[in-house]
Amino acid sequence: MTYILGIETSCDETAAAVIKANKSEVSVLSHVVNSQIKIHEQFGGVVPEVAARQHLVNILPIVNQAIKQAKLTLNKISAIAATQGPGLAGSLMVGFETAKTLAWLNNKPLYEINHLTGHLWSWLLPEVGKTSTLNIPWPFIALIVSGGHTELVLVKDFVNHEIIGKTLDDAAGEAFDKAAKIMNLGYPGGPILSKRAALGKEQAWDFPRPMLQQQDFNFSFSGLKTSLLYKINKLGKLSDQQINDLCASWQAAVIEVLVEKTVRAAKFYQAKAVAVVGGVSANQNLRQAMTEKCVNNNWLLLLPHMTYAGDNAAMIALAGFMSHHLGRQSSNKNFLTSAIKPSLNI
Ligand code: KG4
Ligand code: ZN
Repeated sequence: MTYILGIETSCDETAAAVIKANKSEVSVLSHVVNSQIKIHEQFGGVVPEVAARQHLVNILPIVNQAIKQAKLTLNKISAIAATQGPGLAGSLMVGFETAKTLAWLNNKPLYEINHLTGHLWSWLLPEVGKTSTLNIPWPFIALIVSGGHTELVLVKDFVNHEIIGKTLDDAAGEAFDKAAKIMNLGYPGGPILSKRAALGKEQAWDFPRPMLQQQDFNFSFSGLKTSLLYKINKLGKLSDQQINDLCASWQAAVIEVLVEKTVRAAKFYQAKAVAVVGGVSANQNLRQAMTEKCVNNNWLLLLPHMTYAGDNAAMIALAGFMSHHLGRQSSNKNFLTSAIKPSLNI
């Protein structure tokens, strides 16, 4: 049995978790996330320096809490997995350097994890205290939709992950956040906008479906933001219902493009399954639209529990187990000189 402590601080969540895994099963023993939403809300977005300082204050209490909740001590942990990138430099530094220090002091291997690989496996995580079977339908297509990334990845095995498409400008989550900001809906924009969308009519407004005609697997969302801005400027002061309708119609455009491109990729690569992961995978309309496509095409749909849609450390621990135990990647013995990689790609 392997016990992995995960540490994640790539953006504005200080997170630590402990998983227990063998080659056929994984359990989440603890999962702690300290969100800084309340702090960054007043600025309308994440302030990198504020986030890093907050991580610095929180990191050890959060790590200790995760170990305690798992009813373990550090000497029982087999390895420490930490996010090396991508993300905000100051934020990454706190978690990664803490993990390095803990690994060094306790003579444990350090697993340097790509945040996006963490999201990639998040659909496999059971709820805290439960166990799930590591049953993986190879190959699968993963749509990673987060605040900083929108990528289609072909997952062939535990270590071979090929980006087959990505956004050429804004990420889907970023587009949601910016659209919400244009309408003064508050922060974080994605969940607020999708709540308003549930009260509106999708057919009320016609928004473009960017890149849908192009046969590649890339996306572009910045035009949709501009198109929303034009409509709002034309309309003047908006009623609540107008805002709801704009949210519903705008969200429908984003979701249609995400779903159609993913479907095309899954067909092209003859995938067995489709995973939708990252913060935007919390979106219920996206989940619903993808469910219908997967049922029609006989693909399994791999969705994270809502608990693990956003940033968390259980997915970082699991990514460590996948690459270093099942994928047999060796850990970096010289991790003392290892550094964060803010613009790391998958
Ligand atoms: O993966 P994540 O928690 O952090 C990053 O790695 O970036 O993703 C955060 C993003 C934000 O842009 C947020 O607005 C978006 O996920 N998001 C949503 C929803 N919940 C979170 N977007 C659309 N609908 C949602 N329900
Ligand atoms: Zn993320």
